[in-house]
Amino acid sequence: MAIWNLGSINADMVYAMPHLPAAGETLAALRLDRFLGGKGANMSVAATRAGSDVHHIGSVGPDGDWAVKRLDDYGVGIRHIVQADTPTGHAIIAVEPEGENQIILFPGANRTLNREQVEQALSRAGAGDILVMQNETSMQAEAAQLGKKMGLRVCYAAAPFDADAVQAVLPCLDFLIFNEVEAQQLQQATGKEPGGLGVKDVIITLGAKGARHIDGETGVVSDVPALPVTPVDTTGAGDTFTGYVLSGLDLGLTVAEAMAQASRAGALMVTRRGTADVIPTLEEVQAARF
Ligand code: RIB
Repeated sequence: MAIWNLGSINADMVYAMPHLPAAGETLAALRLDRFLGGKGANMSVAATRAGSDVHHIGSVGPDGDWAVKRLDDYGVGIRHIVQADTPTGHAIIAVEPEGENQIILFPGANRTLNREQVEQALSRAGAGDILVMQNETSMQAEAAQLGKKMGLRVCYAAAPFDADAVQAVLPCLDFLIFNEVEAQQLQQATGKEPGGLGVKDVIITLGAKGARHIDGETGVVSDVPALPVTPVDTTGAGDTFTGYVLSGLDLGLTVAEAMAQASRAGALMVTRRGTADVIPTLEEVQAARF
């Protein structure tokens, strides 16, 4: 099986800050690093490092060759990444010493993907493959509808969260992942609890408390605890968790097994500074001691 990821590709400019800047404050950074990022690219790299065959569907600008090359070097399928006239997306990320962040996102080429490009890419997918999207590209609802029609396992990582964007794909979903606050926001918007959304597998990430799986068919709820680590940078940890969960499902693990492995990957990721480039490999995840 394979994973098809309609996902963003960004240049991440990561500024190490003494604290997160307040409104109106001018604050000097302690250091600047540049990484490959974007929630989509991060998930593609994570799922590839976890052992899956991943095809990225995305768009960069004329300045984005480096990002495509890097995804290629990391083993991600790049055949369905197109070049647009709009500049490549980028993120300005401030990280404070305890690892919390603040992100300014410039969507750029990520929002220029059109229906034809998505249809062409997905024409190569087969029933049973996984299709994943996040909320940083255009064509989410169109891809979800097409994926459902083709018999793909349609997954949505609701980040950055927008209740309307989730509701636009909801009828097509087999798998939904978001955090506790977002789950409450969606409940307010739909009047439905996470287990009643009509989605087979719902995962709610609970920060320091770990993550919860709700089986939307049986109603069974199972929790995976968080692992004890001292974070230095939480950026991309959620994407790493999601990429590892999806890869686990793709490779035949149970949801519980996939979440346990993903939780180790996410824990390791918060001990590293950076995004796609520093996502741990499966060997590192298996060898880590917490
Ligand atoms: O989740 C982290 C990601 O969010 C960063 O890589 C950044 O590009 C933004 O998309």
